[in-house]
Amino acid sequence: QFFKEDFMQDYKLQVANAISAAIDSQLSQDEILSKIEIPKALNLGDYAFPAFVLSKVLRKAPQAIAAELVEKIDQTGFEKIEAVGPYVNFFLDKQAYAKAILAEVLAAKENFGNQDLGAGRQVPIDMSSPNIAKPMSMGHLRSTVIGNSIANLMAKVNYKPVKINHLGDWGTQFGKLMCAYEMWGSEAEIKADPIATLLKYYVRFHEEAEAKPELNDQARHWFKRLEDGDAEATRLWKWFREESLKEFMEVYDELEISFDSYNGEAFYNDKMDEIVELLEEKHLLKESQGAQIVDLDKYNLNPALIKRSDGATLYITRDLAAALYRKRTYDFAQSLYVVGNEQTNHFKQLKAVLKEMGYNWSDDIHHIPFGLITSGGKKLSTRAGRVILLQEVLNDAVNLATKQIEEKNPTLANKAEVAHQVGVGAVVFHDLKNERLNNFDFDLEEVVRFEGETGPYVQYSRARAMSILRKAGVDADAVTGSYDLNDPEAWETLRLLGDFPAIVKRAVTEYEPSVVAKYAIHLAKAFNKYYAHSRILADDEQKQARLAMVAAVATVLKEALRLLGVGAPDEM
Ligand code: ARG
Repeated sequence: QFFKEDFMQDYKLQVANAISAAIDSQLSQDEILSKIEIPKALNLGDYAFPAFVLSKVLRKAPQAIAAELVEKIDQTGFEKIEAVGPYVNFFLDKQAYAKAILAEVLAAKENFGNQDLGAGRQVPIDMSSPNIAKPMSMGHLRSTVIGNSIANLMAKVNYKPVKINHLGDWGTQFGKLMCAYEMWGSEAEIKADPIATLLKYYVRFHEEAEAKPELNDQARHWFKRLEDGDAEATRLWKWFREESLKEFMEVYDELEISFDSYNGEAFYNDKMDEIVELLEEKHLLKESQGAQIVDLDKYNLNPALIKRSDGATLYITRDLAAALYRKRTYDFAQSLYVVGNEQTNHFKQLKAVLKEMGYNWSDDIHHIPFGLITSGGKKLSTRAGRVILLQEVLNDAVNLATKQIEEKNPTLANKAEVAHQVGVGAVVFHDLKNERLNNFDFDLEEVVRFEGETGPYVQYSRARAMSILRKAGVDADAVTGSYDLNDPEAWETLRLLGDFPAIVKRAVTEYEPSVVAKYAIHLAKAFNKYYAHSRILADDEQKQARLAMVAAVATVLKEALRLLGVGAPDEM
């Protein structure tokens, strides 16, 4: 079910047509369309045409051209058209626009903004991908929530996202773990607290290996046993993996995020020979100090290390196998990797090797990088003890939300459920409202505030809209009656509603959920301003139309939050 791809496009066309009819073909329709701007402030109209683009041909000052254009343009269908300096400002007919946008949103409901950019083609999204036997980091949380939102956005424009958790469940670190377990591991200890215990073994292994480097050889040997399918090594590996995954699942459940696949690095163990063969066939492998590499000099990149001198494969070898597997399995339109920007070079190498292999679809592979979460301005790192444990962050957020709800709405029926939506939603929203490449500092108090540019603020604004509708006895999904709204106070909100489809499109093409988050804040602010200045429930002939707008705002805010992976309680 698709609605107008860009609701505002008709209005832009209306403006372009009016200009086109008033000038003597100095500019084509397309040229005019490309010049039309959206003024920063609403008092400068809804669209503006910069008259200076005509000053060369007409050999006149732009101010004079603007003034003349205003005289010539047929103003029918507009509220007014004005010259301000070198600009011609167009004001839409507010009443007609209000009718059209309210009718569109209330008919489309949550489908408002749906578009067909993807034609149903699949898009694997490599996201979350924590490492077995290590705590899930804030970086993995970012990848999870950004990836999830991009998946929602992709689905809204008719791609079929495939959410893949490319678990770090293979590699030499497993050799180290097994070696450590053999020396001083305890089954009971692991069972009691799996990830913390495995991490402890890992850290101790590194400490001891400094004095006894032969431990590293033993670890390599263990990993080789694993790669060769040895029974004991495989048993241990499976067990470590399962125990870790159980802990990760708790976080995913809390976030209500699921995956279509948990094929991690290990899944590609039996698919790497083919990669090595293909590289050999294409004469791309070179020997360097006993190792096999692909030279990437011409891309200005370090060589890709495909196979170590002991025959062990590497992270990138597994990613090559995964890329090929995904192309064959999903015939993807795009293949996305939501991974921190510290891996930018890795993904450049990955794409370059695929390109060298002759795969043109390597152009459809996109690394979606993101910045760091800092604490007190410092990078979080496991070693420096500045690990913010995810579970703790989410719990603290829910507790804080509970406290605020107790204060604001002590009689709320489903407090626990709402506190969960608000607390977890706050953390997710905070992450997504920042442009993904920016680093940002994490301060829980700030994140869960009900005021300011937070998730709870947006949720609260929507809950307020829902409460107005409840008071009026109106069902948000079935508002009928007149949409004739003639109220200057409502204009900003109405205009923002019309922008939603274009916002969705921009968020998708830039892989940038923050576009939606910022929009949601903007719409919530405009609506709250309107709420403060109007008597929505006053009994006059526009009451029904005002309620229609309230319902439309509630619908669009809920949908924007959904795209971000944030819940929208009806009451809070
Ligand atoms: N497990 C890796 C890490 O934690 C991220 C994996 C990203 N995905 C991939 N296909 N390389 O750094």
